[in-house]
Amino acid sequence: LSAGPLAGKHILVTSGPTHEPIDPVRYIANRSSGAQGTALATALMDLGAQVTFVTGPASVAPPVGANVVAVETAAEMLAAVEAALPVDAAVFAAAVADWRVASASGKKIKKQDGALPVLEFAENPDILARISQMGAGRPRLVVGFAAETHDVIENATAKRLRKGCDWIVANDVRPETGIMGGSENKVTVVTEEGAMDWPRMTKAEVSVQLAAKIADTLTR
Ligand code: C5P
Repeated sequence: LSAGPLAGKHILVTSGPTHEPIDPVRYIANRSSGAQGTALATALMDLGAQVTFVTGPASVAPPVGANVVAVETAAEMLAAVEAALPVDAAVFAAAVADWRVASASGKKIKKQDGALPVLEFAENPDILARISQMGAGRPRLVVGFAAETHDVIENATAKRLRKGCDWIVANDVRPETGIMGGSENKVTVVTEEGAMDWPRMTKAEVSVQLAAKIADTLTR
């Protein structure tokens, strides 16, 4: 049995991108290494939590010791998240594709002289919003992430209300910050109490701080 403030707590973490197929050999995706979600899962387990880690095709290895559920698409991620419930807290660090190709081709689309394929999109389920607003069985704490390039506090505050989650962890992903795919992060944590600007630190340090804040909330 694990010791630590999160012993006996079950926490769900989503991480990585999703891949939405165009045909058997092509897909659309968001940029996400899975680094922040993986670091966070590790920090939560270090405090004793049991972690279910639902991950899209990430470039970093999944956290050792977590119950890892590998998925590819947003639809699969939603199903895996629902299958993991009930949990005490859920942290949605995945970069889920907002759209999927409405009717992915079962066969490789052939390159044809002069004819360009036209893709039609369909909207993917918003997993964070769905779980935040689920009513009975909702995790006690639901945390979303937000990638922002400008007006971080305004956008994150609006996103928190729109999604219905408890906290939004907003990352500054302006390309010049080197945060996307890098080892550091600069986050602003928006809760019902307002926005807290955390200093730039490694993703591991952000994870330790966030895990401590989650433990604090779940043990109150
Ligand atoms: O709306 P936006 O994608 O900026 O919101 C980001 C947050 O919502 C992240 O926590 C992400 O994991 C979550 N999300 C989700 N399902 C989607 C889109 C975003 O869970 N389809």
